[in-house]
Amino acid sequence: MSPRVVLVGPMGVGKSTVGQLLAERLGVGYRDTDDDIVAAQDRTIAEIFVDEGESAFRAIEKAAVLRALTEHDGVLALGGGAILDDDTRASLAGLPVVYLSMDVEEAVKRTGLNTARPLLAVNPRKQWRELMEARRHLYEQIATAVVATDGRTPEEVTEAALDAL
Ligand code: S3P
Repeated sequence: MSPRVVLVGPMGVGKSTVGQLLAERLGVGYRDTDDDIVAAQDRTIAEIFVDEGESAFRAIEKAAVLRALTEHDGVLALGGGAILDDDTRASLAGLPVVYLSMDVEEAVKRTGLNTARPLLAVNPRKQWRELMEARRHLYEQIATAVVATDGRTPEEVTEAALDAL
């Protein structure tokens, strides 16, 4: 079993909203690796970061992604940083991977000072710029389609993703 579509992209880009719309349109289920982690750990992602640090979270995340890839055949959304892991990127080879992109200003506008997202707790604009610079090429490396979300509604992004599939 493998997902019909995998959604990747930065936090706040709309993976959950678009993923659910996409799943409805395709008549398949929706799954999100962040939700899997929170359910399995019985802690929020912010708590895992605070309790154990980012690298421990990345190990938990990698296992969650690899499991979801074998268990789920619908739309699967990955956490924004899941693609940092080499094995995770390798495991996406051959799958339809849609990268939902946005520019830095859109990211700042959408997420603001969202402390529930531990990577953005301080100086969001600077951190966004660094995150995008570090990750953009990794998203592009694994994506089979790139859908820009700037200034688009979730419905418009969903249509664009369906067209791109
Ligand atoms: C992260 C993105 C988050 C979550 C964690 C780290 C990241 O997922 O996994 O806070 O490194 O970009 P979403 O992209 O679903 O918000």
